[in-house]
Amino acid sequence: MRQTLLLSTLAGLALAAPRPQDDPEEPPASTIECAPFPSPLPSWDAYPAQSSLPDPFLPLQYMTTAGADGASAADIMAGLGNHRIQTQEEWYKCQKPQLMNMLQEYQFGYYPDHSLETVTATRSGGRVSISVEAGGKTGTIQATFTLPAGEGPFPVVIAIGGISSQPYLQAGIAIAEFNYGAVAADSNAKTGSFWDIYGDRDIGVLTAWAWGFHRVLDGLNATVPEIDATRVGVTGCSRLGKGALAASLFDERITLSMPMSSGVQGFGPYRYFTLSGQGENLDNSKGGAPWWSASRLGEFVGHHENLPFDAHTIAAAIAPRAIVADQGVGDQFVNSKGSSTVIYPAAQVVYDFLGAGDKLAIAIRQGGHCDMSGYQNVLPYVRHILQGEPLTRDYHDLGSYGSALTESFPWAATAPAASA
Ligand SMILES: *[C@@H]1O[C@H](CO)[C@@H](O)[C@H](O)[C@H]1NC(C)=O
Repeated sequence: MRQTLLLSTLAGLALAAPRPQDDPEEPPASTIECAPFPSPLPSWDAYPAQSSLPDPFLPLQYMTTAGADGASAADIMAGLGNHRIQTQEEWYKCQKPQLMNMLQEYQFGYYPDHSLETVTATRSGGRVSISVEAGGKTGTIQATFTLPAGEGPFPVVIAIGGISSQPYLQAGIAIAEFNYGAVAADSNAKTGSFWDIYGDRDIGVLTAWAWGFHRVLDGLNATVPEIDATRVGVTGCSRLGKGALAASLFDERITLSMPMSSGVQGFGPYRYFTLSGQGENLDNSKGGAPWWSASRLGEFVGHHENLPFDAHTIAAAIAPRAIVADQGVGDQFVNSKGSSTVIYPAAQVVYDFLGAGDKLAIAIRQGGHCDMSGYQNVLPYVRHILQGEPLTRDYHDLGSYGSALTESFPWAATAPAASA
């Protein structure tokens, strides 16, 4: 991502140079100059405390106290910060790369440069064996897959930690699985194929699992022509749902993210954790499983209101690719209520701005944490996205939660219009 930013900066400089005017051969060049990006990214106390969700349209530089250009914390929360991005072009050229950079620095760690990896795969029956080489080191991943009856190529859902696969197979969707613990242990141990290659880096295990999804997709694409590698869903529940969301964040090939009951560091808010009744939050998730994220998230322990982002920012950086979040109303710990009434509607503002309002879905159901019924709960939406089936229910419905907590994202009132 640093590279992307550097390229944008260079492009900006090139535009400042004289260029031929009125040349019919020359398409009109973009005049967009991105906001400066703080470098190095500052510590938690450079940001104002925000009790509501940070404005995703505000470049990070203008969210820092030093760079706010006279805007107060109250202004920033209300969407009255300076130099907000206004167009889709600015979003894709400037804001999205800056959000990606920020999220990697403060939460996920920097995703490895895939262009430096060599991936080879072999297929044997329903198994694919994948080998990744980079920098003279090698990691291997074993995946399994099951194809539906009939003629392919089939879309695929890649799952970690188990999935209710029969309804998917019956719907003509292939299922692939891999052992996430063999990619990166869910602990401080730094064992597994990801760490075999990147063991010296400060990267979160959620990002390592995301990398596992991507290398499995490489292997399927290379060896299983019955699978259409351009129609891909990723899923997992709880901590593995956090990983499935990360899998969409770091690879544009992922068509649909299906995080189930994912909570904090996934689709659950860092702020508003008291809505849950039980309270997974930044402090207890970073304290209990510090390995899920890179180390800098730890700076915000005790200061979660100073985070310049929240879970809606992760969704915003994935947009306009599709997300369906499964939430059980009996699942208090991961704050299903906050995911549904705070994060989902705030992220929806960005999807609407990008003209992709139908690509974000919330799937609220009865039941608790990681109930397998969640897979049926999202299936009509999965079929809609991966197979073009008409929707059979309203995936914007907040069910028994009623309506969005609009005071949690007051900047929506002044959100830029959806025109490109
Ligand atoms: C699949 O592999 C081919 C050949 O390497 C590549 O051109 C294509 O981009 C890959 N597709 C996906 C979805 O990874």
